[in-house]
Amino acid sequence: MITASSTLDRVLVLEMVRVTEAAAVAASKLVGRGNEKAADAAAVEAMRNALNDLPMDGTVVIGEGERDEAPMLYIGEKVGSAQGTGPRIDIALDPLEGTTITAQAGPNSLAVLAIAEEGGLLNAPDVYMEKIAIGPGYPDGIVSLNRSPTQNIEALAAAKGVQPHELMACVLDRPRHEKLIAELRQIGCGIMLIPDGDVAGVIAVSNPETTIDIYMGCGGAPEGVLAAAALRCIGGQFQGRLLFRNDDERARARKWGIDDLDRVYQLEELAKGDVIFAATGVTDGSLLKGVKLRRDGVMTTETVVMRASSGTIRWVRGEHRSPKG
Ligand code: FBP
Repeated sequence: MITASSTLDRVLVLEMVRVTEAAAVAASKLVGRGNEKAADAAAVEAMRNALNDLPMDGTVVIGEGERDEAPMLYIGEKVGSAQGTGPRIDIALDPLEGTTITAQAGPNSLAVLAIAEEGGLLNAPDVYMEKIAIGPGYPDGIVSLNRSPTQNIEALAAAKGVQPHELMACVLDRPRHEKLIAELRQIGCGIMLIPDGDVAGVIAVSNPETTIDIYMGCGGAPEGVLAAAALRCIGGQFQGRLLFRNDDERARARKWGIDDLDRVYQLEELAKGDVIFAATGVTDGSLLKGVKLRRDGVMTTETVVMRASSGTIRWVRGEHRSPKG
């Protein structure tokens, strides 16, 4: 049998570009139309079709929900045209990360996915995750979910040789972050509040072109695994801890084999082994430009695709022409 490791890079890296491009192009037709569901459905269908064209034995481990909730790309769905014969690959996906952003034509919505060898991605249930992330180049463990926001900011500032008020934290703009925001303000740290889209928010810590030094706060657990996969490729530190609001959510976690509900997950525990991450911009953002329809009818896309084992990052600009004939 072919194992994923022998083909993850060569066959599939650039194929992933096609997959996220297809989802982004489909969603782009609904940018600014005020209809989150329609935008998401278009992205899901396009991503599923593109995945099913690939010669692999793929399994969705993070997807649109459980089988009874999601008609397509549900957790456990098999995708790919080589079931039983092709490389066995686990897939975490979010065909449209930022449904509200897309509906409102805001910044930073993405079509994203990560693939790994079977068992390489944490099967995170659709609950919240507390997250902390910083870029590469710092001593290991310099920030931690087991320390207070003040301690983390002070440690990061010291490592950078700056004062806490010279740092910028990215935080999702949610009422649940009131206490975190107050504490960061108290020590003078800058805060970039984002309305949605914490995959892009986490990745921004590794991008020297953004002013973001640290990502803090709680967002979706599936998005946490996707962001961790990206940081495995580009470098940086990340920790995540699942947060449960009720027994139903705890039961979901146990169903996916998670017994230690308080565990702080390190990067390698969220996305291990060789991992490929791909994202295409739907709307313009800090990471990628969004889909554009040029006057000559050509549609342009921007995609980043990266692989953990080599650290290679490829920026792919696509020009899509309608087939003639
Ligand atoms: P959707 O694309 O599913 O709407 O997710 C957007 C998002 O902002 C994520 O980036 C983030 O992890 C999550 O929602 C936060 O959840 P909530 O909106 O419940 O605070």
